[in-house]
Amino acid sequence: MAGLIPQNFIDDLISRTDIVDLIDGRVKLKKAGKSYVACCPFHGEKSPSFHVSQDKQFYHCFGCGASGNVSSFLMEYDRLDFPDAVDELAGIYNLDVPREDSGNEKKSAQQYSIDKQKKLDYYELMAQVEQYYRQQLQSNKNSKDVIDYLKNRGLSGEIAKRFGIGYAPDDWQEVKDKFGKGFQHENQLLETGVLIKNEKGRVYDRFRNRVMFPIRDRRGRVIGFGGRVLDDTTPKYLNSPETPIFHKGSELYGFFEAKQANRDLKRLLVVEGYMDVVALAQNGISWAVASLGTATTTEQIQLMFRNANEIICCYDGDRAGREAAWRTLQNSLPHLQDGRQIKFMFLPDGEDPDSMVRTLGEQKFIELVEQAKPLSQFLFENLLSQVEMDSEDGRSTLAKLALPLVSSIADGVFQQMMKEKLAKYLGLEADSLNRFIQQDKPTQAKQKRKEAKRGSIVRQAIGLLIQHPSLVKAISDIPELSQIKIKGTGLLQTLINQVRQQPEITSPQLLERWRGTPEYPSLLKMAAWEHDVENDNLEPQFIDTIIEIINKHLELRLEQLAHKSRVDKLTSEERQEYAQLIQNER
Ligand code: UTP
Ligand code: MN
Repeated sequence: MAGLIPQNFIDDLISRTDIVDLIDGRVKLKKAGKSYVACCPFHGEKSPSFHVSQDKQFYHCFGCGASGNVSSFLMEYDRLDFPDAVDELAGIYNLDVPREDSGNEKKSAQQYSIDKQKKLDYYELMAQVEQYYRQQLQSNKNSKDVIDYLKNRGLSGEIAKRFGIGYAPDDWQEVKDKFGKGFQHENQLLETGVLIKNEKGRVYDRFRNRVMFPIRDRRGRVIGFGGRVLDDTTPKYLNSPETPIFHKGSELYGFFEAKQANRDLKRLLVVEGYMDVVALAQNGISWAVASLGTATTTEQIQLMFRNANEIICCYDGDRAGREAAWRTLQNSLPHLQDGRQIKFMFLPDGEDPDSMVRTLGEQKFIELVEQAKPLSQFLFENLLSQVEMDSEDGRSTLAKLALPLVSSIADGVFQQMMKEKLAKYLGLEADSLNRFIQQDKPTQAKQKRKEAKRGSIVRQAIGLLIQHPSLVKAISDIPELSQIKIKGTGLLQTLINQVRQQPEITSPQLLERWRGTPEYPSLLKMAAWEHDVENDNLEPQFIDTIIEIINKHLELRLEQLAHKSRVDKLTSEERQEYAQLIQNER
């Protein structure tokens, strides 16, 4: 039988979890004076009497009297028993829940205290490494060049200091030698990604001869780094990998600095790069953050909305920028409530916020920010550009595309307004739209069946590829598909490889390679398949199918791990993968 969970472990979990974060992920909270409020999830009510206090890390409902801390909330809301609630909390931090085996309590407790010690050391080590990089910016033999580089990019010493910008020396083992000695330190530096191990087992500094941008968590602790080369070698930026203290999807570069610089954050500007955040701050705009990937995650959106009511997402005007914006839009819809706003701005080709603010200056740049498109405008413009509104078909496609999006917005004035807009485009009364929404679910099911008929998604990808081999160019950076256990992905990957080896290959040439093989007859059919994708649309359509395959794979993997976690214990790698997948899912 499993033993008791050590109390100090539980204490630690509770102290590191913010109750506002935790509850807000389940019940949308609104700031009201010193606390946060919502309609109570434990009894039906129309006006909010459920209060959450960040200071006290406690919730209380003045209506029904429910109250407690993070673990009671999980038990009540997720209907978990206590050990499961602890497990849930531990899962947030990728920790395994330790158990005291009854005969040997002391030993496990001691064991755990080493783990806890270790976690503290991660932060401590990162702080020391950050300080070291900062010193190197002043004292390294290359200092002058590095400082010149930063000056050339318009940065003052003061801003460099505010962001803790440093320099990683041009050496394979400065950091390793300096910090990697002593008890477990080398391992811990490896685990935090500051050091890296090659296939031969050699351990060395990950960041060499780079300008270093420390990434801080919302409490200001350094949890990772981004490092930029000083010239145009590649990769331009190296980033810390996911580590026990650094989870990209839940952090925002510059968020801590923005909070420090602004007592009250009215708005937050989301940009793409480290340098954009820093250059904006240099030019007086100290409320910019960078999401550490391309699209902004739901977790990042929640974090921002807890601190500001307006988010402006700034993207390049190219297709990648528009796609990232669209993904952000989809992620943000469920978090939009009355009073919260999300806007989108697109920069001219070849510009980024850094270059823009440096040429325009603070005021002009802010004017641009203020002209950003409200979400509703971006949403409808985007959808309307995909359909022909003067045909009945077009209008019904618009309804199909827009309804799931509009329905995912929280009930309220904003959702109502979006419904009215949509109804107007469709030439309907908002009321009849409501009926449409009711019917939407079966429609989606029908749609799915129709898709299934059209052949599996892998067949579609193969069909498009065999007919248009040059499409391979559009997917230069996708992961290996042959690892994916979905029927046909091995064949698809082989085709991709064949085209990569001979990029000019034509469709019949490609087909020829397969003559006489068992796959040939079906490849032939797919080559003859009459798809109705327009030429201009081939690339996006192909990319979509590939993404769908990858998503399907991730979904299957998630189900697999979820199943395993119910009947068996996950290994720590699986746990990490599971947490990552769940995060992507949200
Ligand atoms: P950009 O290529 O737009 O660079 O990448 P940038 O931010 O304008 O950088 P500068 O102005 O040339 O210094 C945007 C962001 O994408 C990530 C980084 O977070 C970067 O800030 N990126 C880019 C990488 O992680 N690795 C890369 O090699 C390039
Ligand atoms: Mn740039």
